Amino acid sequence: MVFYKASFEFLKMKEIFKGEPEWEKAFALFHCLNLRDTNTAKHSIEVGYFAAKIAAKLNLDPSRYFLAGLLHDIGKIDMDDHPLKSGEILTVKERSKLKDHVLHGVLTLSELGFGKDIVQFCLRHHERLDGSGYPFGVCEELISTEGRIAQVSDVFSALTSPRKYRENPKAYSYDEALLVMKNDYIQQGIFDGNILNILVTVIQDEKQKEQRYA
Ligand SMILES: [Fe+2]
Ligand SMILES: [Fe+2]
Repeated sequence: MVFYKASFEFLKMKEIFKGEPEWEKAFALFHCLNLRDTNTAKHSIEVGYFAAKIAAKLNLDPSRYFLAGLLHDIGKIDMDDHPLKSGEILTVKERSKLKDHVLHGVLTLSELGFGKDIVQFCLRHHERLDGSGYPFGVCEELISTEGRIAQVSDVFSALTSPRKYRENPKAYSYDEALLVMKNDYIQQGIFDGNILNILVTVIQDEKQKEQRYA
């Protein structure tokens, strides 16, 4: 359901920002990502959607977060087919190579002149507040608001999508995904608690809307 709403939002953004240079570059890159791997493109639209909803609740510009979400995994264009598309558990070598996608993305976005906020979102989306993330294992104060929103949106989209490599490969429901994330937060403090709470209200809004139109 969310993917359809997110896709609609994507089409709306395409119309609103038509001819705007940074958005035109983003659409061209996103088109390449979609050709390379549709599932990563779908995930990126969802990340943009959730990030924009969280940003709006913080009085930040939602369109910047939507754009950042579209491009956060752009470095995956460089990955080999098996780790990118099979969905199976990765070998140690593939896992280590997968981590390169963050810096490949950052380099691509910086070279193309995207704003610092877009680059930050990409740079920090796999970092964790306790320092257990990658590529640098930075924690707390080094992780900007863009990074904190990126982490929560990225994990929520991944959990609510089917993933063959998980013990439970089916997509988690919204509530199951939020429970997993809250437990991770309580046990390890890996997410920003405030951003996570905002995601909870975003999801409550989504559910209410879905019930209204059901
Ligand atoms: Fe990623
Ligand atoms: Fe991602």
